[in-house]
Amino acid sequence: MSDRAKIIAFANQKGGVAKTTTTLNIAVAFAEQGHRVLCVDMDPQGNLTMSQGIDPDTLEKSMYDVLVHHIPIKEVIKKREIDLACASIDLAGAEIAMSTQIGRERSLEKAFVPILDDYDFICIDTPPSLGLLTINALTASDKVIVPVQCEYLSMRGLLQLQNTLLMVRENLNPNIEIEGIVPTLVDSRTVHAKEAIEILEENFGDRVFASRIRKTVRFAEAPVQGMSVLKYDPHGTAADAYRQLAKEVLENAER
Ligand SMILES: Nc1ncnc2c1ncn2[C@@H]1O[C@H](COP(=O)(O)OP(=O)(O)OP(=O)(O)O)[C@@H](O)[C@H]1O
Ligand SMILES: [Mg+2]
Repeated sequence: MSDRAKIIAFANQKGGVAKTTTTLNIAVAFAEQGHRVLCVDMDPQGNLTMSQGIDPDTLEKSMYDVLVHHIPIKEVIKKREIDLACASIDLAGAEIAMSTQIGRERSLEKAFVPILDDYDFICIDTPPSLGLLTINALTASDKVIVPVQCEYLSMRGLLQLQNTLLMVRENLNPNIEIEGIVPTLVDSRTVHAKEAIEILEENFGDRVFASRIRKTVRFAEAPVQGMSVLKYDPHGTAADAYRQLAKEVLENAER
């Protein structure tokens, strides 16, 4: 692998499809394999920040200051299971604050320049919208991983995401590609989940990861303890699912 960090955005404008859960647990799985990993919280909800036991309300500086005031990203990184560039609710005002700035879509890309040699992977969690925060993430990224909850309605939203990616590719970042689509919150007992995955595979072929992330209460319990599932229940099937997914991503990177 090259020395420069590989940058992956986790995106889907639909809420609650496990973007944050997937960002954190893949990142921790990369770290377990000896990689240097930075997670970046680009969601004003600050769920990724909280899921590592950090209270967003106590932050003096956060991604808002990086994006709007261009302070060095190192100043908002905290070291937990992985390194984490933190966000708080003030990030909700960043889209408006950036809207009049020249180069507003490239603010995050620029912030990464000084740290590209410090990490092997940078994993970006995005909010459930396709606004300027998500555009910044897609512009800064090499790849996008799309968590999809396996139900028909959430899959329809994938078209909208693909249109946004086309726009980003044409205007801002010609190189961004979909690394893969992850079926999340899979309830393997239902026929419906099976059918949904089949439809996904008919439409996206081998871009659908082989790994499946099943529904389990572990994923709700771990963030409350400020931990990844890999730390909270290291030998459980939930942790293994994300290790398997990370392995698929690492194998793609070597190809
Ligand atoms: N495999 C799973 N099984 C059960 N619960 C899960 C699973 N993955 C995630 N969850 C839970 O589902 C909820 C939504 O997950 P998460 O916050 O990762 O989604 P999100 O896409 O980031 O949401 P948002 O769009 O609000 O940012 C959380 O409460 C999380 O703990
Ligand atoms: Mg989230």
